[in-house]
This record gives sequence, structure tokens and C-alpha cells, in this order.
Amino acid sequence: KRIDLIGIATASGASVRGCGMGPEALRVAGLAEALIDLEHSVADHGDLRRPQPDISTNPSSWRLPDERKADVLELAESVSNAGYDILKAGHFPLFLGGDHSVAMGTVSAVARHCLPLQKPVHVLWIDAHADYNTPETSPSGNLHGMPLALLCGEPGFNEAFRGEWLGRIDPGNVSIFGARSIDRDERRLVQARGVDVIDMRKIDQLGVVAAMQKVIDKAKAVGAHLHVSFDVDSLDPAIAPGGGTLVPGGLSYREAHLIMEMLHDSGIVGSLDVVELNPFLDHGGKSATLMVDLVASLFGRSIMGEEPGPVEFL
Ligand code: ARG
Ligand code: MN
Ligand code: MN
Ligand code: MN
Repeated sequence: KRIDLIGIATASGASVRGCGMGPEALRVAGLAEALIDLEHSVADHGDLRRPQPDISTNPSSWRLPDERKADVLELAESVSNAGYDILKAGHFPLFLGGDHSVAMGTVSAVARHCLPLQKPVHVLWIDAHADYNTPETSPSGNLHGMPLALLCGEPGFNEAFRGEWLGRIDPGNVSIFGARSIDRDERRLVQARGVDVIDMRKIDQLGVVAAMQKVIDKAKAVGAHLHVSFDVDSLDPAIAPGGGTLVPGGLSYREAHLIMEMLHDSGIVGSLDVVELNPFLDHGGKSATLMVDLVASLFGRSIMGEEPGPVEFL
């Protein structure tokens, strides 16, 4: 498989700065080398970023979310176009964030690619959060809390959020996995739209294998392209401290590897985001290294060798 890496070096959708350094931290942690070791071929497109560095009057402060909206939208458009080209060339796009607002572009690329092929898109959103706020429901105004709502066609986004670059997905084809922090109005929205929310309680109760198998079966049943959007804060903060919006009680090391191995074995994953890694808050590359190992599991690394063993889930 040819895997095309593309970084989106931005924190413009986030509440704190630092995840703009995410793509480089993943490279330094050995992402390309891990994939090459698994006998994939890798191309690296470098990073998309805003043309001017961000200047803040006070280094610890951040411009208001609204002042960063234009950055988010400009990058979403470039990511959507770049991702579309990678998919059209028949390669696997691996998007390196950047905050989660970059998924406005990554998922749009996938949706635009699959639409004429009449291939349904299923989005697996592995995250502590639902990221289903609209500008009206958002308590913070940060755009990394809104990508799913935009992609699912929720009202409340103004004209600036429209364009050829924007793809659409069906909220019935979204599975949020690992959630444990959802805002009040956001929760009402996901419930009203029938978004499948596999929260941490369900994972604890069902077990991670049964919970993930349900998602895979659902996507397989319609012959979907499965897009995985992996927010580093889905992981427990004890194993992945490098994030700006950490929530206790996340996926364990073993749960996370197991779901990545299952996703590999499913054979239906067609694109991947790794987002919200904040190297400034990370502890000596701990979270970056873990993310590289998890991505390797998704691309076929296994304990007993590269061939998936005769493991039968369920
Ligand atoms: N729900 C909160 C908000 O809307 C937090 C979102 C965090 N999102 C993320 N991608 N880390 O501000
Ligand atoms: Mn997120
Ligand atoms: Mn999150
Ligand atoms: Mn710390």
C-alpha cells in the first residue's frame, strides 16, 4: 500500500496553542520508518500551514476563536483539495494534525472522492469529545469542537463555511468512539440526528472488542469507505499527556492497540487522521511515540509477525 503523509500544522481551531507542531513530532517519533518497516511505501507531502506565523500580544494568550476562523477555513480548503488528489491517485491519505478542525477538510476530501463512485463513507471518530457543536451550541467558540456538525450539514454555520471544498456525510454513518465529554446542547443534537455514540460507559460495559466490531460490521454492511479520525485525547491522559483538552478515563494502551489491530484486519480503512497531538504539552515524546505505534498497529504490525493470526473476534 502506498501511504501519503500530509501535515496540517495548525492550532487555529483549538483552545490552546501547540498542536501545530504535531506533524513534526509524529515524524520525529518515526512514523514513516514504522510504515516502511511494515513494507508499505511512503510519500511525505510536508505541511500545509498558514502563510504567516501567528503573533499574539502575549505569548501565553491566544487570539479569539473568531479571529482564527479564516485560518481554519483556508486550511480546510487546501486539505480537502490535497486529500482529494491523493485519493484520486489511489493512495492512502494519512493526515497529520493539527487540531481537529482539520477534519473539516480531511473528511470533505473523502466524501468528495466517494460521491461519484457511489461508495458510502463511514466516519469513525475516536475521541473523548463528540466535536458536534455548531457556532450556536458551542460553549467555547473553538472550531475543533465543531467539525462533525459542519460535515453533517447542521444549520448555524454562515456562508464562510460553504464552498466546493466542503463534502457532506450522513450523521447515520458516523460512529463516535470513546466519548466522555459532551456539552449539553451538543448531546441533544447528536441524539436528534441518530449519531452512533459509543461512549466510555458502553465500552466498559460491552468490552472494546464487541463495541468496535459493531462499528466495523455496520460500515461493512453498506460497503463503506471507513475514514478513521483519531483524536489523541481519546486515550487516557496517563498514557497520552500531549493534548490540550484532556479528559480522565480514556482508552487504555491495550484497548487502543486492540481496536487498531481490529481496524487493520477489517480491511476497510481507507483514510486516517491523527489529530490534537500537542508536543508542547507532551512528556518527552511519550504521546507521539504511542501514536506512531498505534498507527503501525492499524497498518498491520502484530506481535507474532506481519500476517494477522487466526484470531476470531466475537
Ligand atoms: N466540546 C468542547 C468545545 O466545543 C471541547 C471540544 C474539544 N475538541 C477537540 N477536538 N479536542 O469547545
Ligand atoms: Mn476531537
Ligand atoms: Mn477531543
Ligand atoms: Mn503534564
